[in-house]
Amino acid sequence: MALSSSTQSALSWVIVGRGAIGLLAAARLQQAGYTATLWLKQPDAVQLKFTDLKQQSQHRILRPQPTDTAIQRVLVPVKAYDVLNAVAQLVPFLANDAQLVISHNGIIPIEPLLALLRPAQGLWFLSTSQAAYKPAAHHVVHTGEGKSYITKLTASDSDDNQTIAAMSAALGPVNVVSDIYPMRWLKLAVNAAINPLTAIENCQNGQLAQPQYRAQISALTTEVCQVAAALGYPMDPANTLQTVYQVISATSDNFSSMQQDIQAGRQTEIVAICGYICQQAAQLQLAVPANQQMLNQILAKTTTS
Ligand code: PAF
Repeated sequence: MALSSSTQSALSWVIVGRGAIGLLAAARLQQAGYTATLWLKQPDAVQLKFTDLKQQSQHRILRPQPTDTAIQRVLVPVKAYDVLNAVAQLVPFLANDAQLVISHNGIIPIEPLLALLRPAQGLWFLSTSQAAYKPAAHHVVHTGEGKSYITKLTASDSDDNQTIAAMSAALGPVNVVSDIYPMRWLKLAVNAAINPLTAIENCQNGQLAQPQYRAQISALTTEVCQVAAALGYPMDPANTLQTVYQVISATSDNFSSMQQDIQAGRQTEIVAICGYICQQAAQLQLAVPANQQMLNQILAKTTTS
């Protein structure tokens, strides 16, 4: 791949895809004075309508990233099952010291990603509770103020503050943590409890507050806590269940990402959520029947529809 010697400036970010979190990040980066370009399968300019938390809307133009300029900084907020493929496609276009920030629901193995990168390239993981949805293809609405946790998975260097500052503008406030796995297991518990059930019931998150779901949500959450604890990430089941119900209440009007995926006939993140829990549990010889049932039911929906 012949890239020109020019690379992006420190204030330029490439956002992969046009998912809600990516478009939210792109709009907020632009607002903060960064240049945000999109990396899309079809490289068109996007005229984005961005509605912020105060329900004020503005229009922003997001241009496609040129393919002859080495990419210095890139946010990859794609679905768990697309991350490896997205990074593999980016690799020929990356600067030798490019910084990549990945962000997705669920947990996937990190080693295949690291194997794609050169020694000076940096890999980060960002976990966010910012809430956004797309009422239309090019309209993103910031629906809930969350926060983000970020960690660098590769060796740190002096340039790290620029990545942290940009991610604070995009999806902040950002907490920098040395081990992000406690946060990821907590988010995994939330996603395991909410996403498949809302997809199966075809309902908004808020419906799960009804008493008939209590036993199932409690079982799903307790199983995640058992697996996490066995892996060295102790999680209190009562506190975790409380967090799950807080998210159900805070996002009561939202349709979960898995409910939307099932309704649109798309692949879901179930393998990186309940599938990951089941796979880790099998290695630990722990039984996780509630998560196994969700995995089976969602897989059956996606393979038969
Ligand atoms: O995947 C999602 O939809 C979200 O992570 C969450 C927190 C379940 C809210 O809908």
